[in-house]
Amino acid sequence: MAQVVVENVYKSYRGKADRADRVDESKKADIALSKDKTQPVSVLRDINFTVEDGEFLVLVGPSGCGKSTLLRLLAGLEELTGGNIKIGDRLINNLPPKARDIAMVFQNYALYPHLNIYDNIAFGLRRNSGADSQEKVRSSWWESALTGTTRYAPRSMRYLSAKEKQVRDRVRYVASLLQIEPLLARLPKELSGGQKQRVALGRAIARNPQVFLMDEPLSNLDAKLRTQTRAQIVQLQRQLKTTTVYVTHDQTEAMTMGDRIAVMHNGQIQQIAPPLEIYERPANRFVAEFIGSPAMNFLPVDLVSPLKLVSPHFTLELPTIWAKSLEHSQVKSLILGIRPQHLAVDAESPSNIQIEVDLVEALGNETYISAHLTAQPDTTLTVSLPPDKRLRVGDRLWLSINTDKIHLFTVDDGRAIREGTRSATRLR
Ligand SMILES: Nc1ncnc2c1ncn2[C@@H]1O[C@H](COP(=O)(O)OP(=O)(O)O)[C@@H](O)[C@H]1O
Ligand SMILES: [Mg+2]
Repeated sequence: MAQVVVENVYKSYRGKADRADRVDESKKADIALSKDKTQPVSVLRDINFTVEDGEFLVLVGPSGCGKSTLLRLLAGLEELTGGNIKIGDRLINNLPPKARDIAMVFQNYALYPHLNIYDNIAFGLRRNSGADSQEKVRSSWWESALTGTTRYAPRSMRYLSAKEKQVRDRVRYVASLLQIEPLLARLPKELSGGQKQRVALGRAIARNPQVFLMDEPLSNLDAKLRTQTRAQIVQLQRQLKTTTVYVTHDQTEAMTMGDRIAVMHNGQIQQIAPPLEIYERPANRFVAEFIGSPAMNFLPVDLVSPLKLVSPHFTLELPTIWAKSLEHSQVKSLILGIRPQHLAVDAESPSNIQIEVDLVEALGNETYISAHLTAQPDTTLTVSLPPDKRLRVGDRLWLSINTDKIHLFTVDDGRAIREGTRSATRLR
């Protein structure tokens, strides 16, 4: 078990893909944009974070933001352009993957097709069979002779070396942990996607590494299996207490799995914090929009006095908790953020917004509606309502904004303005 420290990490690729064969179509398009081969493409910039010993950190962000690149740097599959990576107190910048004591699980399982499940899990254990001690050399000739002569004997009569017995115990332990004992004799092609993914996890666990790196391991599973396997991975990680970095583009996975979440965008970390803090106090507009489903709504407003927001269509009085961070501001344009569940159907009033319903999605436990402002059809909102509200496309209604739940962002760079005394950013 160990802490992982990432310091000032930068990664750029030369203009041309160095491994074009591995790059998918969307990336090829990006790469094609930088025709100038001398111009490096910057993929990660100024990445700093520490994963504590035993912690489960989720890296989340949209496709192409650099998550896999960062994980591959940790694994030693890519070279750093700048910065340092430490595992425990070892600087591992230049160590090859094998020497880093990490295990990686990918989206596409990567099992050996010709080996059965037992041997797939055992493979890494046999390969890492430790130092070539003298004893091993001495014993190897008669052990291989015994193994060879008993190979075709019934299973219980076959010779197993001490090493192979250790491997067997480890494979059995992992198989019982993941409940895949009945699958050990099968080939990968005889397994379902979910089972293959559990074997891939098993192979990583069997090696008992200091760190697990997982790159979208659940993406190939159907929704139900994904939810089950998600819970199972979290449980296993708690049990094993192995430091884990888990990559996903799925905000639900991030919210439900991580001790902390690092939200990435355009090669940079936007915020790193526990899930609920990210949700309740997003550092900027990108994080606010990316985390939470359906996504937060944004409306342009003007601050006309320290606690008064106006838009062409409504006027809001802010709770006094905002006074401190907004006191010195003059009239200023801001972006108001409000989550769909913090809007409610209400009466006509100057502080409320009139909308017209465009789409109704009744999920049973709640109903999402998409709507536009009647006074400004190009401004749209998503609202989450209790299921008893029966609405139809074209209905007009008034919405109130729960002012205890609003977020404010600057217009220029989308930074969040903090309410309350713990204010991180004040508006000047
Ligand atoms: N070998 C490469 N050469 C050049 N650019 C690359 C290479 N691999 C990845 N990239 C670039 O790095 C960006 C981040 O890729 P990646 O880390 O795979 O993103 P994610 O995993 O977040 O979807 C991509 O947009 C792509 O342009
Ligand atoms: Mg990726």
